Amino acid sequence: MIKHFLSLSSFATNDIQSLIDRAHFFSLHSKQPDKINHLLKNKIFANLFYEPSTRTRCSFEIAAKRLGAEVVNFVPENSSVKKGETLYDTLKTFESLGVDGIVLRHADDRVFDGLHARFNLPLLNAGAGKFEHPSQGLLDLLTLKQEFGGLNGLKIAVCGDIKHSRVAGSLMVAAEKFGMEIYLCGPESLLPTTTQAFIKKAHFDDILPSVDAVMMLRIQLERHESLELDGEAYHKQFGLSEKRVNTMKKEAIILHPGPFNRGVEIADEVVEHKQSRIFKQMSNGVFSRMAVLEWAVSGEHK
Ligand code: CP
Repeated sequence: MIKHFLSLSSFATNDIQSLIDRAHFFSLHSKQPDKINHLLKNKIFANLFYEPSTRTRCSFEIAAKRLGAEVVNFVPENSSVKKGETLYDTLKTFESLGVDGIVLRHADDRVFDGLHARFNLPLLNAGAGKFEHPSQGLLDLLTLKQEFGGLNGLKIAVCGDIKHSRVAGSLMVAAEKFGMEIYLCGPESLLPTTTQAFIKKAHFDDILPSVDAVMMLRIQLERHESLELDGEAYHKQFGLSEKRVNTMKKEAIILHPGPFNRGVEIADEVVEHKQSRIFKQMSNGVFSRMAVLEWAVSGEHK
């Protein structure tokens, strides 16, 4: 059976747990290449990113290489996309070229709808519009699990442009599965409507002292038709300043998927604050994607 990694919602909680455990294993053994560097030998993955990326594209590439696979990086701007080739035909081309899996990022929320059924190789969602970013969700869960030992009952504030965030999309799917509470903060116009009991809207300053983690999100200007952002005013109202961090529990952690805009949603000095796990998230991105790539081609967790 072909394994596609498109949305955390299609996974049973136990299966996500297995991926987290496997990613944690890779985090422990990344400095022991003799244990891991052969697992995907002779496999070739294609990275197809129709939107910019630093962390996701490079960590999928590093993850593949750590496991002994090779990677082809497709750049739409220098490709036959410029001659009018469709996404489907480009994917079909890579399937014909014999790659073992395709990692795809695209601006369209619904890019994967019905797509996977037309391919005989794994498709991996590296971020689909405002829909989901499941490998980011996995690395966020790994980071929380490493910090707190478990996920059930964790209280997480998410602050920023949640309506346009696929990162928040995957986090909310995971929160329901793992019994976490989510508090949505930020400008009312950027918050989604929600009817689910585990997701509540909250005032940022009121909720910060009681949460286990805060996930800061940037304003996704590329997904707004017209939005003029006054960075300074935004920072004052919704930015994570050192003053706000000081109201948090000492064991609470700061998360951000990146890229971050220092001085807007997060203060410069908070990015590398002792409670920040932002760079840990990036490291965990490699380990989580190693688990995903291995799962996709083997179809089983080892
Ligand atoms: N977090 C994240 O998706 O970052 P990139 O856009 O750099 O991949």
